[in-house]
Amino acid sequence: GPYGAQRRHASKHRFFAVELSQALFDFVIQRLPTQEEMAVKEDVRKLLERLIRTIEPDSRLLSFGSTANGFSLRNSDMDLCCLIDSDERLSASDMVTMLGDLLERETKFNVKPLPHARIPIVKLSLDPSPGLPLGIACDIGFENRLALENTRLLMCYAMIDPTRVRTLVLFLKVWSKRRSINSPYQGTLSSYGYVLLVIYFLIHVKNPPVLPNLQQMPPLRPISQEDTHIGGHNTWFFDDIELLRQRWQSSNTDSVADLLIDFFRYYSRDFTYNTGVASIRGGLLKKESKGWQNEASSRYNDSRERNRFCIEDPFEIDFNVARCVTKEGLYQIRGEFMRASRILAMRPRAVAALAQLCEE
Ligand code: GTP
Ligand code: MG
Repeated sequence: GPYGAQRRHASKHRFFAVELSQALFDFVIQRLPTQEEMAVKEDVRKLLERLIRTIEPDSRLLSFGSTANGFSLRNSDMDLCCLIDSDERLSASDMVTMLGDLLERETKFNVKPLPHARIPIVKLSLDPSPGLPLGIACDIGFENRLALENTRLLMCYAMIDPTRVRTLVLFLKVWSKRRSINSPYQGTLSSYGYVLLVIYFLIHVKNPPVLPNLQQMPPLRPISQEDTHIGGHNTWFFDDIELLRQRWQSSNTDSVADLLIDFFRYYSRDFTYNTGVASIRGGLLKKESKGWQNEASSRYNDSRERNRFCIEDPFEIDFNVARCVTKEGLYQIRGEFMRASRILAMRPRAVAALAQLCEE
Protein backbone atom coordinates (compact mmCIF):
# COMPACT_ATOMS: atom_id res chain seq x y z
CA GLY A 1 0.00 0.00 0.00
CA PRO A 2 0.95 3.70 -0.07
CA TYR A 3 2.37 3.56 3.43
CA GLY A 4 4.60 0.57 2.83
CA ALA A 5 7.46 2.57 1.41
CA GLN A 6 7.25 5.07 4.24
CA ARG A 7 7.31 2.29 6.80
CA ARG A 8 10.29 0.64 5.19
CA HIS A 9 12.02 4.01 5.11
CA ALA A 10 11.32 4.61 8.82
CA SER A 11 12.48 1.18 9.85
CA LYS A 12 15.68 1.51 7.82
CA HIS A 13 16.32 4.83 9.55
CA ARG A 14 15.74 3.26 12.96
CA PHE A 15 18.19 0.52 12.18
CA PHE A 16 20.78 3.09 11.13
CA ALA A 17 20.16 5.19 14.26
CA VAL A 18 20.50 2.21 16.60
CA GLU A 19 23.70 1.08 14.94
CA LEU A 20 25.14 4.60 14.86
CA SER A 21 24.28 5.25 18.52
CA GLN A 22 26.10 2.09 19.56
CA ALA A 23 29.09 3.02 17.40
CA LEU A 24 29.17 6.49 18.99
CA PHE A 25 29.22 5.03 22.52
CA ASP A 26 32.04 2.66 21.57
CA PHE A 27 33.98 5.40 19.82
CA VAL A 28 33.79 7.72 22.82
CA ILE A 29 34.52 5.08 25.46
CA GLN A 30 37.78 4.16 23.74
CA ARG A 31 38.90 7.76 24.05
CA LEU A 32 38.15 8.40 27.72
CA PRO A 33 41.11 9.04 30.02
CA THR A 34 42.27 5.99 31.96
CA GLN A 35 42.09 5.79 35.75
CA GLU A 36 45.83 6.00 35.74
CA GLU A 37 45.90 9.19 33.74
CA MET A 38 43.40 10.81 36.09
CA ALA A 39 45.46 9.73 39.10
CA VAL A 40 48.64 11.20 37.60
CA LYS A 41 46.84 14.48 36.97
CA GLU A 42 45.55 14.62 40.52
CA ASP A 43 49.08 14.00 41.81
CA VAL A 44 50.38 16.83 39.66
CA ARG A 45 47.67 19.15 40.99
CA LYS A 46 48.59 18.31 44.59
CA LEU A 47 52.30 18.78 43.96
CA LEU A 48 51.71 22.17 42.36
CA GLU A 49 49.38 23.22 45.17
CA ARG A 50 52.05 22.37 47.72
CA LEU A 51 54.59 24.48 45.84
CA ILE A 52 52.26 27.46 45.40
CA ARG A 53 51.56 27.44 49.14
CA THR A 54 55.21 28.23 49.78
CA ILE A 55 54.48 31.59 48.10
CA GLU A 56 50.88 32.09 49.27
CA PRO A 57 50.01 29.90 52.29
CA ASP A 58 46.26 30.65 51.95
CA SER A 59 45.93 29.44 48.40
CA ARG A 60 44.03 26.56 46.82
CA LEU A 61 44.58 25.10 43.40
CA LEU A 62 41.39 23.90 41.72
CA SER A 63 40.91 22.23 38.38
CA PHE A 64 38.39 23.51 35.83
CA GLY A 65 37.69 22.93 32.14
CA SER A 66 37.48 19.40 30.82
CA THR A 67 39.26 17.71 33.74
CA ALA A 68 36.47 18.99 36.00
CA ASN A 69 33.33 19.12 33.85
CA GLY A 70 32.98 15.54 32.67
CA PHE A 71 34.01 16.26 29.08
CA SER A 72 37.58 15.12 29.18
CA LEU A 73 39.30 12.99 26.57
CA ARG A 74 42.44 10.96 26.87
CA ASN A 75 45.48 13.21 27.11
CA SER A 76 43.57 16.47 27.30
CA ASP A 77 45.17 19.52 28.88
CA MET A 78 44.73 20.29 32.51
CA ASP A 79 43.30 23.71 33.40
CA LEU A 80 44.09 24.84 36.94
CA CYS A 81 42.99 27.93 38.82
CA CYS A 82 44.63 29.28 41.94
CA LEU A 83 42.36 30.97 44.49
CA ILE A 84 43.89 32.96 47.31
CA ASP A 85 41.77 33.35 50.42
CA SER A 86 43.52 36.35 51.91
CA ASP A 87 42.87 40.06 51.58
CA GLU A 88 46.37 41.19 50.77
CA ARG A 89 47.32 39.19 47.78
CA LEU A 90 49.76 39.72 44.98
CA SER A 91 48.47 40.64 41.53
CA ALA A 92 47.92 37.81 39.07
CA SER A 93 50.89 38.92 36.95
CA ASP A 94 53.23 39.02 39.99
CA MET A 95 52.02 35.59 41.01
CA VAL A 96 52.70 34.31 37.50
CA THR A 97 56.25 35.66 37.55
CA MET A 98 57.03 34.30 41.02
CA LEU A 99 55.44 30.93 40.42
CA GLY A 100 57.23 30.67 37.10
CA ASP A 101 60.61 31.17 38.81
CA LEU A 102 59.76 28.71 41.57
CA LEU A 103 58.63 25.95 39.22
CA GLU A 104 61.66 26.50 37.04
CA ARG A 105 63.92 25.93 40.07
CA GLU A 106 62.04 23.16 41.84
CA THR A 107 60.49 20.94 39.16
CA LYS A 108 61.18 19.17 35.90
CA PHE A 109 58.35 20.93 34.07
CA ASN A 110 58.98 23.05 31.01
CA VAL A 111 57.76 26.41 32.30
CA LYS A 112 56.47 29.40 30.36
CA PRO A 113 55.13 32.30 32.42
CA LEU A 114 52.83 34.71 30.54
CA PRO A 115 52.43 37.54 33.08
CA HIS A 116 51.24 40.11 30.53
CA ALA A 117 48.57 38.08 28.74
CA ARG A 118 44.92 39.23 28.91
CA ILE A 119 44.51 36.45 31.45
CA PRO A 120 47.97 35.94 33.03
CA ILE A 121 48.89 32.25 33.22
CA VAL A 122 51.83 29.94 33.72
CA LYS A 123 52.06 27.26 31.04
CA LEU A 124 53.62 23.97 32.08
CA SER A 125 54.41 20.78 30.26
CA LEU A 126 56.17 17.51 30.82
CA ASP A 127 57.69 15.71 27.87
CA PRO A 128 56.61 12.13 27.25
CA SER A 129 58.44 9.55 29.35
CA PRO A 130 58.08 5.78 29.83
CA GLY A 131 55.77 6.28 32.84
CA LEU A 132 53.82 9.07 31.13
CA PRO A 133 53.85 8.20 27.43
CA LEU A 134 51.89 11.23 26.36
CA GLY A 135 53.41 13.83 28.64
CA ILE A 136 51.20 16.41 30.25
CA ALA A 137 50.19 19.99 29.51
CA CYS A 138 48.78 22.35 32.06
CA ASP A 139 47.83 26.03 32.42
CA ILE A 140 47.67 27.72 35.82
CA GLY A 141 45.65 30.91 36.14
CA PHE A 142 44.64 33.04 39.12
CA GLU A 143 41.30 34.05 40.64
CA ASN A 144 39.36 33.00 37.57
CA ARG A 145 36.17 32.38 39.55
CA LEU A 146 33.91 32.73 36.52
CA ALA A 147 35.68 29.85 34.80
CA LEU A 148 35.16 27.69 37.89
CA GLU A 149 31.45 28.51 37.82
CA ASN A 150 30.96 27.91 34.09
CA THR A 151 32.76 24.60 34.54
CA ARG A 152 30.27 23.71 37.27
CA LEU A 153 27.36 24.74 35.03
CA LEU A 154 28.57 22.49 32.20
CA MET A 155 29.13 19.65 34.68
CA CYS A 156 25.54 19.99 35.89
CA TYR A 157 24.24 19.79 32.32
CA ALA A 158 26.38 16.70 31.77
CA MET A 159 24.91 15.09 34.92
CA ILE A 160 21.27 15.62 33.93
CA ASP A 161 21.54 13.26 30.96
CA PRO A 162 25.05 11.78 31.10
CA THR A 163 24.69 9.34 28.24
CA ARG A 164 23.35 11.62 25.56
CA VAL A 165 25.07 14.87 26.56
CA ARG A 166 28.52 13.43 27.18
CA THR A 167 28.49 11.21 24.11
CA LEU A 168 27.54 14.11 21.85
CA VAL A 169 30.03 16.53 23.37
CA LEU A 170 32.93 14.09 23.43
CA PHE A 171 32.31 12.97 19.88
CA LEU A 172 32.15 16.57 18.65
CA LYS A 173 35.38 17.40 20.47
CA VAL A 174 37.23 14.55 18.74
CA TRP A 175 35.63 15.41 15.41
CA SER A 176 36.40 19.13 15.60
CA LYS A 177 40.03 18.46 16.55
CA ARG A 178 40.56 15.91 13.77
CA ARG A 179 38.99 18.25 11.23
CA SER A 180 41.17 21.15 12.44
CA ILE A 181 38.33 23.45 13.42
CA ASN A 182 39.08 23.52 17.18
CA SER A 183 41.65 26.24 17.41
CA PRO A 184 40.77 29.82 18.39
CA TYR A 185 44.34 30.89 17.59
CA GLN A 186 43.72 29.93 13.98
CA GLY A 187 40.32 31.54 13.63
CA THR A 188 38.11 28.61 14.58
CA LEU A 189 36.24 27.67 17.78
CA SER A 190 37.40 26.49 21.23
CA SER A 191 36.11 23.29 22.82
CA TYR A 192 34.20 25.50 25.24
CA GLY A 193 32.41 27.05 22.25
CA TYR A 194 31.40 23.65 20.84
CA VAL A 195 30.08 22.54 24.23
CA LEU A 196 27.92 25.67 24.39
CA LEU A 197 26.60 24.95 20.87
CA VAL A 198 25.56 21.45 21.95
CA ILE A 199 23.84 22.64 25.13
CA TYR A 200 22.09 25.48 23.29
CA PHE A 201 20.82 22.96 20.74
CA LEU A 202 19.55 20.56 23.43
CA ILE A 203 17.75 23.29 25.42
CA HIS A 204 16.46 25.64 22.75
CA VAL A 205 16.33 23.85 19.40
CA LYS A 206 15.14 20.34 20.17
CA ASN A 207 11.44 20.12 20.79
CA PRO A 208 10.67 18.66 23.27
CA PRO A 209 13.91 19.83 24.86
CA VAL A 210 16.51 17.33 26.02
CA LEU A 211 17.77 19.67 28.79
CA PRO A 212 16.03 22.25 30.99
CA ASN A 213 17.40 25.79 31.21
CA LEU A 214 19.17 25.74 34.59
CA GLN A 215 19.66 29.52 34.57
CA GLN A 216 15.91 30.21 34.23
CA MET A 217 14.46 27.76 36.75
CA PRO A 218 12.75 29.12 39.84
CA PRO A 219 15.14 29.00 42.82
CA LEU A 220 14.18 26.82 45.79
CA ARG A 221 14.72 29.62 48.28
CA PRO A 222 15.28 33.36 48.09
CA ILE A 223 18.76 34.18 46.87
CA SER A 224 20.81 37.20 47.80
CA GLN A 225 22.59 39.43 45.35
CA GLU A 226 26.06 38.85 46.83
CA ASP A 227 25.77 35.05 46.80
CA THR A 228 25.01 34.96 43.12
CA HIS A 229 27.22 37.63 41.58
CA ILE A 230 30.89 37.50 40.66
CA GLY A 231 32.41 40.75 39.43
CA GLY A 232 28.96 42.08 38.50
CA HIS A 233 27.95 38.94 36.60
CA ASN A 234 24.97 36.89 37.67
CA THR A 235 26.24 33.34 38.07
CA TRP A 236 23.17 31.80 39.66
CA PHE A 237 21.81 28.54 38.27
CA PHE A 238 19.77 25.65 39.61
CA ASP A 239 22.43 23.21 40.78
CA ASP A 240 20.57 20.64 42.88
CA ILE A 241 20.76 17.99 40.19
CA GLU A 242 19.55 15.16 42.44
CA LEU A 243 16.35 17.04 43.15
CA LEU A 244 16.02 18.06 39.52
CA ARG A 245 16.18 14.46 38.40
CA GLN A 246 13.32 13.61 40.75
CA ARG A 247 11.17 16.46 39.46
CA TRP A 248 12.04 16.87 35.84
CA GLN A 249 12.30 14.34 33.06
CA SER A 250 12.78 15.13 29.42
CA SER A 251 10.03 13.78 27.21
CA ASN A 252 12.47 13.75 24.32
CA THR A 253 13.38 10.15 23.50
CA ASP A 254 15.68 10.75 20.50
CA SER A 255 18.75 8.54 20.35
CA VAL A 256 22.25 9.99 20.42
CA ALA A 257 22.50 9.32 16.70
CA ASP A 258 19.26 11.18 15.98
CA LEU A 259 20.54 14.13 18.00
CA LEU A 260 23.89 14.16 16.23
CA ILE A 261 22.26 14.10 12.80
CA ASP A 262 19.93 16.93 13.80
CA PHE A 263 22.80 18.88 15.33
CA PHE A 264 24.75 18.83 12.07
CA ARG A 265 21.65 19.65 10.06
CA TYR A 266 20.73 22.58 12.31
CA TYR A 267 24.19 24.18 12.20
CA SER A 268 24.67 23.57 8.50
CA ARG A 269 21.25 24.79 7.38
CA ASP A 270 19.11 26.50 9.99
CA PHE A 271 21.17 28.53 12.43
CA THR A 272 21.08 32.21 11.40
CA TYR A 273 24.79 33.01 11.46
CA ASN A 274 24.36 36.52 10.09
CA THR A 275 21.89 37.79 12.65
CA GLY A 276 21.67 35.25 15.45
CA VAL A 277 23.43 34.76 18.78
CA ALA A 278 23.33 31.32 20.42
CA SER A 279 22.68 31.84 24.13
CA ILE A 280 22.15 28.93 26.49
CA ARG A 281 20.70 31.43 28.98
CA GLY A 282 18.30 33.22 26.65
CA GLY A 283 17.79 31.12 23.50
CA LEU A 284 18.31 32.54 20.02
CA LEU A 285 19.10 36.24 20.45
CA LYS A 286 19.71 38.95 17.85
CA LYS A 287 23.17 40.38 17.24
CA GLU A 288 21.46 43.74 16.95
CA SER A 289 20.03 43.59 20.45
CA LYS A 290 23.49 42.93 21.87
CA GLY A 291 25.31 45.49 19.74
CA TRP A 292 27.16 42.65 18.01
CA GLN A 293 26.06 43.24 14.42
CA ASN A 294 28.86 42.46 11.99
CA GLU A 295 28.42 45.21 9.45
CA ALA A 296 28.91 47.54 12.40
CA SER A 297 30.25 51.06 12.67
CA SER A 298 33.45 51.67 10.76
CA ARG A 299 35.87 49.75 8.67
CA TYR A 300 38.64 50.99 10.93
CA ASN A 301 37.93 48.60 13.76
CA ASP A 302 37.81 44.87 13.68
CA SER A 303 34.42 44.41 15.33
CA ARG A 304 33.29 42.96 12.03
CA GLU A 305 35.79 40.17 12.39
CA ARG A 306 34.98 39.69 16.04
CA ASN A 307 31.30 39.01 15.57
CA ARG A 308 30.98 36.78 12.54
CA PHE A 309 29.85 33.93 14.74
CA CYS A 310 28.17 34.77 18.05
CA ILE A 311 27.91 32.55 21.11
CA GLU A 312 27.04 34.29 24.35
CA ASP A 313 28.98 33.27 27.44
CA PRO A 314 26.51 31.95 30.05
CA PHE A 315 27.63 34.43 32.74
CA GLU A 316 29.73 37.11 31.02
CA ILE A 317 26.90 38.02 28.74
CA ASP A 318 28.83 40.83 27.02
CA PHE A 319 31.41 38.32 25.97
CA ASN A 320 31.26 36.53 22.62
CA VAL A 321 32.88 33.11 23.11
CA ALA A 322 33.28 32.82 19.32
CA ARG A 323 34.98 36.22 18.96
CA CYS A 324 38.14 34.62 17.54
CA VAL A 325 36.30 33.02 14.64
CA THR A 326 37.33 34.74 11.41
CA LYS A 327 35.52 34.87 8.09
CA GLU A 328 37.63 31.99 6.77
CA GLY A 329 37.28 30.10 10.05
CA LEU A 330 33.50 30.31 9.93
CA TYR A 331 33.48 29.22 6.30
CA GLN A 332 35.55 26.21 7.31
CA ILE A 333 33.36 25.36 10.31
CA ARG A 334 30.13 25.59 8.30
CA GLY A 335 31.72 23.55 5.54
CA GLU A 336 32.48 20.84 8.08
CA PHE A 337 28.91 20.87 9.45
CA MET A 338 27.68 20.40 5.87
CA ARG A 339 30.18 17.67 5.09
CA ALA A 340 29.13 15.78 8.23
CA SER A 341 25.45 16.15 7.35
CA ARG A 342 26.10 14.85 3.87
CA ILE A 343 28.02 11.82 5.10
CA LEU A 344 25.34 10.86 7.61
CA ALA A 345 22.53 11.40 5.10
CA MET A 346 23.97 8.59 2.99
CA ARG A 347 23.52 6.21 5.92
CA PRO A 348 26.71 4.30 5.51
CA ARG A 349 27.62 1.54 7.95
CA ALA A 350 28.06 3.24 11.30
CA VAL A 351 31.67 2.42 12.16
CA ALA A 352 32.83 3.44 8.69
CA ALA A 353 30.76 6.62 8.93
CA LEU A 354 32.47 7.70 12.14
CA ALA A 355 35.90 6.96 10.70
CA GLN A 356 35.06 9.00 7.62
CA LEU A 357 33.62 11.87 9.67
CA CYS A 358 36.81 12.08 11.70
CA GLU A 359 39.25 11.58 8.84
CA GLU A 360 42.32 13.81 9.37
P1 GTP B 1 39.88 20.58 25.91
O1 GTP B 1 40.97 21.39 26.57
O2 GTP B 1 39.87 20.68 24.42
O3 GTP B 1 39.76 19.20 26.42
O4 GTP B 1 38.49 21.27 26.30
P2 GTP B 1 38.00 22.04 27.60
O5 GTP B 1 36.65 21.45 27.96
O6 GTP B 1 39.02 22.10 28.67
O7 GTP B 1 37.69 23.46 27.02
P3 GTP B 1 38.64 24.72 26.82
O8 GTP B 1 40.07 24.35 26.99
O9 GTP B 1 38.15 25.39 25.58
O10 GTP B 1 38.19 25.64 28.02
C1 GTP B 1 38.49 25.29 29.35
C2 GTP B 1 37.70 26.18 30.30
O11 GTP B 1 38.17 27.51 30.18
C3 GTP B 1 36.21 26.23 30.01
O12 GTP B 1 35.50 25.19 30.65
C4 GTP B 1 35.87 27.57 30.54
O13 GTP B 1 35.67 27.47 31.95
C5 GTP B 1 37.11 28.40 30.29
N1 GTP B 1 37.03 29.12 29.02
C6 GTP B 1 37.56 28.76 27.84
N2 GTP B 1 37.34 29.66 26.90
C7 GTP B 1 36.65 30.61 27.50
C8 GTP B 1 36.14 31.83 27.04
O14 GTP B 1 36.25 32.23 25.88
N3 GTP B 1 35.47 32.55 27.96
C9 GTP B 1 35.34 32.16 29.26
N4 GTP B 1 34.66 32.93 30.10
N5 GTP B 1 35.81 31.02 29.72
C10 GTP B 1 36.46 30.27 28.85
MG1 MG C 1 41.10 22.50 28.42
